[in-house]
Amino acid sequence: MTDLLSKFDPLIQQRDDLLSSGLTDPFALVMEKVESPTVAICNGRRTILLGTYNYMGMTFDPDVVAAGKQALDEFGSGTTGSRVLNGTYVGHKAVEEALKDFYAMDHAMVFSTGYQANLGIISTIAGKEDYIILDIDSHASIYDGCALGNAQIVPFRHNDIEALEKRLKRLPPEAGKLVILEGVYSMLGDVAPLKEMVAVCKAAGAMVLVDEAHSMGFIGERGRGVAEAQGVIDDVDFIIGTFSKSVGTVGGFCVSNPPKFEILRLVCRPYVFTASLPPSVVATAATSIRKLMDSADKRAHLWENSKRLHAGLRQLGFKLGTDEPQSAIIAVLMPDLETGAAMWEALLDEGLYVNLARPPATPAGMTLLRCSLCALHTNEQVGEILGMFAAAGRATGCIS
Ligand SMILES: Cc1ncc(COP(=O)(O)O)c(C=O)c1O
Repeated sequence: MTDLLSKFDPLIQQRDDLLSSGLTDPFALVMEKVESPTVAICNGRRTILLGTYNYMGMTFDPDVVAAGKQALDEFGSGTTGSRVLNGTYVGHKAVEEALKDFYAMDHAMVFSTGYQANLGIISTIAGKEDYIILDIDSHASIYDGCALGNAQIVPFRHNDIEALEKRLKRLPPEAGKLVILEGVYSMLGDVAPLKEMVAVCKAAGAMVLVDEAHSMGFIGERGRGVAEAQGVIDDVDFIIGTFSKSVGTVGGFCVSNPPKFEILRLVCRPYVFTASLPPSVVATAATSIRKLMDSADKRAHLWENSKRLHAGLRQLGFKLGTDEPQSAIIAVLMPDLETGAAMWEALLDEGLYVNLARPPATPAGMTLLRCSLCALHTNEQVGEILGMFAAAGRATGCIS
């Protein structure tokens, strides 16, 4: 018998080497209790959460929790069915209405995760004769959506407007083209130049899909994302998003204006061939999305938090993923995986949780400590976080 798992031997070795020094496994943390969007108990101690993507802190919102409980009582624990069979309840229609209102768009289609939304929409709309032109730093779910479909894939250099234009110009003018961009790129927290890129796409006759997973709720005047902030939301053909970040639950969606959009409900396999979200989940999502429309104060506070943390970390001597804070993600660059893991553990010992990110998820082989801020982090917590970075950074030799 050929051991099919032997292909993972190098990774198993790397993991064993890392843990042989007694280091805590950074990819196996258990949250023993979650007290709020910003605090949990991990390894028996109070830990500030700075790596949850819970940007708007909706997970413990009383209205959101109440809506989930009511739906659980009234509709039961799950739908046990696909959206196109027995899995569409009034709650699924209600969350799609909330999304249409939130984005002021004509159509909304809800999937069981954001991953499946990318998988489904990308593989369904771009066919055999079509081209997908995508930023090379795109999220795994975008690449997997491409792999599931039959279109030809044309990557271009990250956030490079000229490279995008050049690629588009080389393609047959009559061919179907889908350009895929993200509002905020989740590894470094940098924002796409959507205004310029969307203009280039329109000039080349390409349709545009923007994944706003990390900007929904926070960026843009009404929280509609980078496309709203840069004034191009009406030129974007498809927006993909998730309920697993600012919305505070689980699920994914696509909103769109083209009138033929609704046909996708019948042909999109990751929508048809899977069970729909539980009633409690769609009820929490709908309540949360409607509250996010009027959350300008929280958005302003989250910007303040991001700016303060970015400036503070820089002042301490850490290298960061962006020169200026561009989103609620602040990436701290580590020299290698060993130092990154040691720093991650030192922060956890201080009482702070951040995400350790490493290749292949990261661009250019980087090891990163990714911080994602929450609108509910208090000024005191941001101060505590900076103190913890200072202590852990000195203990591990990351800063002097
Ligand atoms: C850019 C991007 N798109 C899509 C997703 C998938 O979202 P979900 O967690 O809902 O599957 C993520 C999740 O990390 C993401 O970062």
